[in-house]
Amino acid sequence: MASAREQMYLMAILLIFSPSKLTLSNAGAVTGQPIPPEWPHQFHAFMFMNESGILQKLDLWYDWPNGRNFNIIQNQLDHVVSYDLEWTNGTSFVYTLDPSDPTCKVVDFGVGILRPNWLDGATYLGQQHVDNFLCNVWAKVDFIVYYEEVLTRRPVRIHWSRDDI
Ligand SMILES: *[C@@H]1O[C@H](CO)[C@@H](O)[C@H](O)[C@H]1NC(C)=O
Ligand SMILES: *[C@@H]1O[C@H](CO)[C@@H](O)[C@H](O)[C@H]1NC(C)=O
Repeated sequence: MASAREQMYLMAILLIFSPSKLTLSNAGAVTGQPIPPEWPHQFHAFMFMNESGILQKLDLWYDWPNGRNFNIIQNQLDHVVSYDLEWTNGTSFVYTLDPSDPTCKVVDFGVGILRPNWLDGATYLGQQHVDNFLCNVWAKVDFIVYYEEVLTRRPVRIHWSRDDI
């Protein structure tokens, strides 16, 4: 059963997401609007996340060919690192390796990891400055807003709000 958790994600995504691996699509031939990117099928990104006020640093290893997404999560001011290994069949293993208090739980989110082309069909919202980056902005369904730096095509921020995933 999918666990209900209120989510308001704000992810600032940094560097390591290598721009050279991005599919650089040109402006749409018909609309003249930028087309949302397809993600590289494997990448490493470093993110800062604000989940309804809980601040976390995430080391994210996305691996589509192997059907997994690995997050190494550090909460602000917490010495414990937790690991979240998400599989494309919807199962996640969430665990810590803290010798004094090792934990492990299996969570079924019902949905797998994001597909590389998950932004297909997103609505272009124009350009905005985010953290000093000039970004193209797209909305996907009604709860995800994606910001990508115009110059390098690196993701800069994802704003995610939903209460049932
Ligand atoms: C985190 O998000 C909350 C709203 O959910 C906001 O009030 C707070 O200012 C944010 N914190 C930072 C450091 O951005
Ligand atoms: C999902 O895949 C993982 C990795 O192969 C596996 O360990 C897990 O048991 C699978 N979950 C289900 C519900 O089949």
